[in-house]
Amino acid sequence: MKTNNTTQLTLLDLETTPLTYGSLILNKEKFVEVLSEIGNLNDLSSVKGRIFVIKDIITNHRKDQEGLLNIDANGDTISLRRDILTSELDQILKSQTIERAKYYLKRLKTSVQKVKTSKINDLNLLRWKEYDDIITDSLWILDKRDTSGAHLGWYWGNFIPQIPHQMMRRFTRKGEWVLDTFAGSGTTLIECRRLCRNGIGIELNPEVAQKARELIEKEHNKDSVVSEVIVGDSRTIDIESILRKYGINRFQLLIMHPPYHDIIKFSKDKNDLSNAKNTEEFLKMFGDVVENVTPYLEKGRYFALVIGDKYSRGEWIPLGFYCMQEVLKRGYLLKSIIVKNFEETRGKRNQKELWRYRALVGGFYIFKHEYIMLFKKK
Ligand SMILES: C[S@@+](CC[C@H](N)C(=O)[O-])C[C@H]1O[C@@H](n2cnc3c(N)ncnc32)[C@H](O)[C@@H]1O
Repeated sequence: MKTNNTTQLTLLDLETTPLTYGSLILNKEKFVEVLSEIGNLNDLSSVKGRIFVIKDIITNHRKDQEGLLNIDANGDTISLRRDILTSELDQILKSQTIERAKYYLKRLKTSVQKVKTSKINDLNLLRWKEYDDIITDSLWILDKRDTSGAHLGWYWGNFIPQIPHQMMRRFTRKGEWVLDTFAGSGTTLIECRRLCRNGIGIELNPEVAQKARELIEKEHNKDSVVSEVIVGDSRTIDIESILRKYGINRFQLLIMHPPYHDIIKFSKDKNDLSNAKNTEEFLKMFGDVVENVTPYLEKGRYFALVIGDKYSRGEWIPLGFYCMQEVLKRGYLLKSIIVKNFEETRGKRNQKELWRYRALVGGFYIFKHEYIMLFKKK
């Protein structure tokens, strides 16, 4: 519905705009102008009166006499979450003094006018409340895996897509490079395509790598990012030649999800970490991977290690902490130990009662968690 080069968004358009659910697109210039006008008022009731009108427009869809929803074809727009904006307006409406109201108004205006990001992600810190899907707690209880699109979850021993998703949103910017040294079914690279990050995966098993490639290709590559799964041993693969091929110097995020030693045997290949003869050999192999790839992680960037513990002959083997030590002794900074709930494997689910009985008899606890250990390169 176009009139004089201006599009009046209908309520239906607002609801179906392909942005975050509940987003509202406003004419940025107009919105800033209106906020400035209100900021020049000197009595509290006039400020509240104008704010009330804005709230009415965005919540009750009243007539848009302020022109906030007039989107000029060439003009700047801003997408704001409707619920967050409503609460910001409410804060102004509840102010007891003109000074407080003006303080909140100014903060809102700045967050509309400016974008403030850190060097390592695209999150606009001036609108930080809009990112409530980003986890900042160290305990992750995730009910179900994301099985949308190419995330089929077919590979035994894969991780849930939410892990690389969360890591990439917080620790990379669009267009940056992510390396996954144990690519498996390609979960990281599928997520890379969704989030416009270039992804390189290394996988020892050629059949698994091929299946991963086919699956990754099923995910729409809207931003034409690089997604390559290379068959190789992450302990020895020549990382420099990979970087050279793409004309880059460093990766901006490293993700490692190694076998949890021999809990799942991924192949018969002796170079497979799941075939290490004992814990010491497993840690040596893991350490070799760390040594081979971490020099190519950019300084100040993050390395996420996803790992769980194991039992062996009635003894808890803290693989996670042993692996953490391997990284720390190579000079990395520990940023977080995230504990994430563990989905029951199909086998365990069927034998739930039996495992509970065994736990009661054997004096042990059934594994329900794994770790995401987060390191930063100094
Ligand atoms: C826990 S799985 C990773 C799963 C992956 N995150 C996913 O979502 O599908 C570990 C993978 O590491 C691979 N692997 C084992 N040893 C390796 C090595 N030396 N170099 C590269 N990959 C290896 C295994 O074949 C297996 O696919």
